[in-house]
Amino acid sequence: MPHILILNGPNLNRLGKREPDVYGRDTLTDLEQKLFQFAEGIQIELTFFQSNHEGDLIDALHEAEEQYDGIVLNPGAFSHYSYAIRDAVAAISIPVIEVHLSNPHAREEFRHRSVIAPVARGQITGLGFEGYKLAICYFMNANNK
Ligand code: DQA
Repeated sequence: MPHILILNGPNLNRLGKREPDVYGRDTLTDLEQKLFQFAEGIQIELTFFQSNHEGDLIDALHEAEEQYDGIVLNPGAFSHYSYAIRDAVAAISIPVIEVHLSNPHAREEFRHRSVIAPVARGQITGLGFEGYKLAICYFMNANNK
């Protein structure tokens, strides 16, 4: 069974309280529970990690290579400027799918660019929790390595 790391970056631990008009009222725990149930139904094992710290996210990306078949990554605001996270994604051989709850392209100018996107396998934005589910589905196909 594929084992996927769901990696959430800064401020995503504030889901539910943070800008609910943009991100909704569900919490990170709600997201993780929903994804856990969804993935169980399609025979995918998930592990969750969230950090507000760039270095912790980089360590998690490096360590993931040995443990997981792929990563679903929401880098939060690091998406827009962290070359270190971009390099960490480029430095590992398992696929990383970049996910955003909101559609950054429909928001402030500084969110329009992702420095992660060019090294990610793909990007899903603006679909809320569904975006994570769609990213998980990608790993149902064993050829998507
Ligand atoms: C986000 C979008 C980013 O621009 C923002 O900084 C976040 C959340 C999203 O999921 O929509 O923290 O990654």
